[in-house]
Amino acid sequence: MTDELVLKDKNVIVVDVLRASATILTALVNGAKEVIPAESSSVAARISKGSGNSLLCGERNGKIIEGFNLGNSPFEYTEEAVKGKTLIFSTTNGTVSIIKSRFAKNCIIAGFMNLNSAVDFVADLSEDFTIVCSGKQNDFCVEDMAAAGMIISELFERKGKNNYMLLDSGYVSYKMAKNILYKSGKPDVSKIQSIYKKSEHGQYLISLGFEKDLEYCAQLNKFTELPVFRKGMIKLKNTLENEQSQKSKMKRINISNKPNAGE
Ligand code: MLT
Repeated sequence: MTDELVLKDKNVIVVDVLRASATILTALVNGAKEVIPAESSSVAARISKGSGNSLLCGERNGKIIEGFNLGNSPFEYTEEAVKGKTLIFSTTNGTVSIIKSRFAKNCIIAGFMNLNSAVDFVADLSEDFTIVCSGKQNDFCVEDMAAAGMIISELFERKGKNNYMLLDSGYVSYKMAKNILYKSGKPDVSKIQSIYKKSEHGQYLISLGFEKDLEYCAQLNKFTELPVFRKGMIKLKNTLENEQSQKSKMKRINISNKPNAGE
């Protein structure tokens, strides 16, 4: 079965705490119209040709893709830079996980910065769900596993442990989060930062000069917004709900050429 079909009809939370989750969230909070994940830089360039008012965004190995407008540092995604724009976004791991979730029933994007909103989402859903940890080039990464474990922990707090069954990887991430993030007190920014600083990708980002990004992405629950991937686009949950309610208020106009069809 291809990866896409593994996630078909599932409820998926994509996690890439360093840094794609934080960058997407920041961009949308700062008014980007939508984020379109692209599997490669050439696909991104092709999509951007067909969409007006768009920016080419993303990174390979942490660095901005040559010829692109923005990289993957959340600090680049200011209101001034992104408001009203469509962002075509391609990253090494994060957008790959998002695209792999394209046949999911629901797909949200989360990290430490909007962790409570992700917990609210799965708590209200009350269904099976899968957390996709983007990791690093198909490999495990500690920072995504810690966030996944914290989502599980917070959910257990809210809804009771007995309502859920953890599969092995969920069990490992839950135990890991308990041992690191909940050790002597609640999770906080400094514990998250310390995971980042010890992690391979965190150290790599520091070597590229992105130490401030680690501090930014460690801000626990800075935002309440939740990015949702639907029909090939990422928008905030609130935006999608507003669009939906706007649509449902519209009066339908129909033209029929068979007014007496029932007789
Ligand atoms: C990714 O998608 O691989 C990343 O978010 C890497 C990064 O730019 O830190």
